[in-house]
Amino acid sequence: MNAIGMFDSGVGGLSVLNEARRLLPGSNMIYIADQGYGPYGDRTLEDVRGRADRVTRALLEEGAAMVVIACHTASAAALHYLRRRHPLLPIVGIEPAVKPAAERTETRTVGVLATTATFQGELFSSVVSRFAANTRVIARPCPGLADLVESGADESVVEQALLDHLRPFRERGVDQIVLGCTHYSFLGGLIARLSGVDVVDPAPAVATQVARVATANGFMGDGGAGELKVLTTGDTARLQARVATLLDYAVTIESINL
Ligand code: DGL
Repeated sequence: MNAIGMFDSGVGGLSVLNEARRLLPGSNMIYIADQGYGPYGDRTLEDVRGRADRVTRALLEEGAAMVVIACHTASAAALHYLRRRHPLLPIVGIEPAVKPAAERTETRTVGVLATTATFQGELFSSVVSRFAANTRVIARPCPGLADLVESGADESVVEQALLDHLRPFRERGVDQIVLGCTHYSFLGGLIARLSGVDVVDPAPAVATQVARVATANGFMGDGGAGELKVLTTGDTARLQARVATLLDYAVTIESINL
């Protein structure tokens, strides 16, 4: 089947899937939302690594020939581990987009919104030391924020949570905000409006990298429209209702037990 497998703790990775489907309309894709075990952001990195390992094996069993970790937290916990474990499998992960933010900032101050676990992983400290040596990087963990996206909470509730998270950025002159969790991509417009500064959403760049790797490996499909399979370890009816507002096309959600 040579499908592109993707996973996240829930709906966040659909932001990457949407962009990837635009770039690769003929590719078959399989997406697993690990909602039975999400959110990942408040778990230990070891715990998340275990889930990433299990979900990756499931994607391979379903017919994936490459894997996209469409989640910063799971990338922080398991990107290097999964590459060691599957040396021949093309794997695309996500690191916080500190590099473009550090290149664009005029106040030399960037803010990063992410889960607690993402900030504990090595990927974050590594991007900061590689790309932001002369930049102040303000890390703001946002426990509970991904869950608001997951559940489709009212905009007023999300707005209140965001105002709390954005206050320290405003006080310290942040002019670039990095979305360090794929769930937050769905809040990009709101964050830009509330903060009044540039927001860096990694989803398009990650999808471009997915397209590059898929093309290099010949996973563009056979000329027809690519098939999409979406599975969840959680409640199918709940995800079915949620994807109607987050995806550009209809899809039937299936259940998977992991
Ligand atoms: N979407 C995920 C990320 O990019 C994680 C959200 C969560 O499960 O806490 O980090």
